[in-house]
Amino acid sequence: MKANITIMSGDGVGPEITQEAVKVLQAIEAVFDHDFSINEVLFGGIAIDETGTPYPEETQKSCKDSDAVLLGAVGGPKWSDPNMKVRPEKEGLLEMRSDLGIYANIRPIKTYPELIDNSPIKNRYLEGIDMVFVRELTGGIYFGEKKKTDESASDICEYSKVEIERITRVAANIAQGRRKKITSVDKANVMATSQLWRSTTTELIANEYGELELEHIFIDAAAMHLLSRPADFDVILTDNLFGDILTDEAAMLTGSIGMLPSACLGEDSFGVYEPIHGSAPDIANQGIANPCGAILSASMLLQYSLNLKEEAQVIEQSIAGVIKEGILTKDLTNSSYVSTEEMGTAVSKKILKI
Ligand code: IPM
Ligand code: MN
Repeated sequence: MKANITIMSGDGVGPEITQEAVKVLQAIEAVFDHDFSINEVLFGGIAIDETGTPYPEETQKSCKDSDAVLLGAVGGPKWSDPNMKVRPEKEGLLEMRSDLGIYANIRPIKTYPELIDNSPIKNRYLEGIDMVFVRELTGGIYFGEKKKTDESASDICEYSKVEIERITRVAANIAQGRRKKITSVDKANVMATSQLWRSTTTELIANEYGELELEHIFIDAAAMHLLSRPADFDVILTDNLFGDILTDEAAMLTGSIGMLPSACLGEDSFGVYEPIHGSAPDIANQGIANPCGAILSASMLLQYSLNLKEEAQVIEQSIAGVIKEGILTKDLTNSSYVSTEEMGTAVSKKILKI
């Protein structure tokens, strides 16, 4: 199959991990005889340095002309002064999500038996963890009106019924292929948006997805239950801010945020795929970053945007195989470790051998 993929490797560890994900995509291309045309563009802090804006027009055009986008990470101390006119996060990442209409952020949380000891949580809580977060990504408090003076500040949190319905459908469609259970997270005892969230999800699931179980829990309780009974969760549906917080918390169940991928999807098959970790400037350019989150994001790209399910599985299995063999990056072990590049090569070699 022919496909156009835009690469935005971004800042910090972004370029080094994305390079390994591209290496893995090229292995898939060779084994399965596909033709991926790859276009690399500037995004984030590096784009500010070179063009004055984090999401330049050429980058926008490349994304819109592509079947999918693979993103590394953006941001770093160089661009973190809140008084800067443009910043990688707000005018880059958030603007890009909104511009491309990718309102559904899918973040699967998976544990590997060999890595479970890395988790700060006791092993007995971690068995059987298999959950997927569906986080609303282009609305809520991130995108409402913001005001700030020296004396006061406000952020408006707003959701329309239509926005809640469309993200609920994404969660429901994923739940149908899994254990048929959705946990919707809100703060309906305090927030008006959460009350609309609760009534809208309840009505939509009852009308359109009668076979699914829907439970509602408050965000504070969700934060607690995620640690006390993580294996009970299947699909977790959240708004933008709650999902941001809970997915970082859930990442710690697995032992390393470096292993986790994500997909950002809209109405059609187009998507942007990125590891859920940030740009990690403290470890950039040392060859020690874990490329697995980026590589697994490439796997999600194949699955969701290109409908190449077998290829996606081959990547997942190759990562699992490499981990099982004890080939680990620095974040995953206290003893000898491989470099970012060696990890990417080990995964590609597994793919080329099948
Ligand atoms: C994420 C990140 C972003 C977010 C930041 C960098 C704006 O934390 O993708 O989870 O909050 O959405
Ligand atoms: Mn986050």
